[in-house]
Amino acid sequence: MCGIVGYVGEQQALDVVLGGLRRLEYRGYDSAGVAILDAGSALRVERKAGKLSNLEKEIADLSLRGTLGIGHTRWATHGPPTDRNAHPHVDCAGKVAVVHNGTIENFEVLVRGLEQRGHHRTSDTDTEVVAHLVEERYDGDLAATVRSICKDLEGSFVLVVAHQDEPDLVVAARRNLPLVIGLGEGENFVGSDVTAFIAHTREARAVDQDQVVELRRGGVVVTDLDGQAVEGETYHVDWDTAAAEKGGHEFFMLKEIEEQPAAVRETLGGRMQEDGLLHLDELSMSDEDVRDIEQVIIVACGSSYHSGLVGKYAIERWCRLPVQVEMASEFRYRDPVVGRNTLVIAVSQSGETADTLEAVRHARSQRAKVLAVTNTVGSTISRESDAALYTRGGPEVAVASTKAVMTQITAMYLVGLYLAQVRGTRDADEVRAHLADLHEIPDLVQEVLDRMGPVRKLARELRDEERVLFLGRHVGYPMALEGALKLKELAYIGAEGFPAGEIKHGPIALVEEGTPVVVLAPRHALQAKLVNNVQEVRARGARTIVIATDGDESITPYADTIIRIPDTKSLLTPLLTIVPMQVLSAEIALARGLDIDQPRNLAKSVTVE
Ligand code: F6R
Repeated sequence: MCGIVGYVGEQQALDVVLGGLRRLEYRGYDSAGVAILDAGSALRVERKAGKLSNLEKEIADLSLRGTLGIGHTRWATHGPPTDRNAHPHVDCAGKVAVVHNGTIENFEVLVRGLEQRGHHRTSDTDTEVVAHLVEERYDGDLAATVRSICKDLEGSFVLVVAHQDEPDLVVAARRNLPLVIGLGEGENFVGSDVTAFIAHTREARAVDQDQVVELRRGGVVVTDLDGQAVEGETYHVDWDTAAAEKGGHEFFMLKEIEEQPAAVRETLGGRMQEDGLLHLDELSMSDEDVRDIEQVIIVACGSSYHSGLVGKYAIERWCRLPVQVEMASEFRYRDPVVGRNTLVIAVSQSGETADTLEAVRHARSQRAKVLAVTNTVGSTISRESDAALYTRGGPEVAVASTKAVMTQITAMYLVGLYLAQVRGTRDADEVRAHLADLHEIPDLVQEVLDRMGPVRKLARELRDEERVLFLGRHVGYPMALEGALKLKELAYIGAEGFPAGEIKHGPIALVEEGTPVVVLAPRHALQAKLVNNVQEVRARGARTIVIATDGDESITPYADTIIRIPDTKSLLTPLLTIVPMQVLSAEIALARGLDIDQPRNLAKSVTVE
């Protein structure tokens, strides 16, 4: 949470920093701010509560010239989202500017010391202490100053610091939270992720734990906290700028929903051998390692947890291995039974979610093998895991996850089929057949997208509802959870998802005359039971909205509204049923006049526990 950018080069820094912040705004939008420095001039700091557009309006008539800049977009932790708490924060003399992502846990102790030594605080944030500490300790070497301060800080942080006396130097430091360097020609960048700078360079380098970056126009030096230079690998970012822009759509989310067929193609691409079987070298596991797996534990949060649940159904079915799916925030605190023959799969779009990262660390400390299923190359989770399977969904900017979930589910099928192939629990022909079915999915998703007219109409009808229930069985259950989460976070409607068979054990009490109940009913072995469940809620007055397979009439008599999807194998249906629920939630939110890219109180990358 919180997006940070740093730049030093030959361009006007304000344009570069604002461009980066626009792409990082998904990380938080409580306030935004910039600090700009030109050689021989005073450091200029501008900041404003609210979205980045507020800041842009505020500074439109100012001349903020300079070739060094830092910027911030905030998701508030310490102190309310006001102008006064917006970053950058400055020292007493206004010569030091600091932006920060994270939480400094010992800031109260540090504040007391600073106040005793005569510093005056002008905000309620934990961040400001760093600006005052730089003021106290700076003796002409900003990087050494930041290194010494980092040793005194507890908690998680990415810090980016500029000093008026150093017009060619931005210093950044990281502990636990993401920081990436962008390497240009005569200019260099730091950002919370690569979207901060892909308009300028695609050459990136990740920064490791407790490292400090010295960013100058002519080069970049990375050291540990003792000042020893450290080597790091650079990598090329394939995502192009267009992928991080709205491309003619009013909202990123609508664009990302439309991109799903292409995203699934990317996930599947190049992972099959000539003989039609899978090769997933990325798993870095020998066949013997794969055969030795005794259990699988999937850890994830939010929508990624729902992808993990689908993975459980696939892996259990195809591999006959016990699979648990655990919310990452609960995992390590319950002392889970994990050992060297456990495969832990961490599913995370961002690769930075603090709860999932801590689960990964815990699993590794128990000697489990950890596979990251993530969209973000170079992310902390991918680097701290034993192996990473990239979902290749491209940048997802809208806070609510759509194409990332779709590609995660696809990746979970690939993992399941690969384990089955190597362990021999499915023969080669069956694996080939499932892969062939998976390769048809992008076209089928496109077909669903082409049929969304009636769903948009339905959204207008449901605009004023206060409660919507979602029911599903088998793989429809995780998708019922996902449909409810999308509606909650986008339209602020009280939505809940249940296994359809469970509703009679309590939740059916929520049903009254006209309550909308979305039923995920693609053709499935449990169809007859699902038909019974639909009848049960309808008998109590529910308005039933049924997602059903083309040509399946068994449920039609009990549906007030029917949304059709094409036929596919029942295990793969989440990749199709998810689409109408995404569109429905987005369209209801739009009908309510809400911002679907940046729903209230949320941030895309949740880097606090
Ligand atoms: C919901 C959503 C969140 C994320 C969750 C995990 O639409 O986007 O629930 O799925 O915060 O994020 P990652 O996948 O980045 O670990």
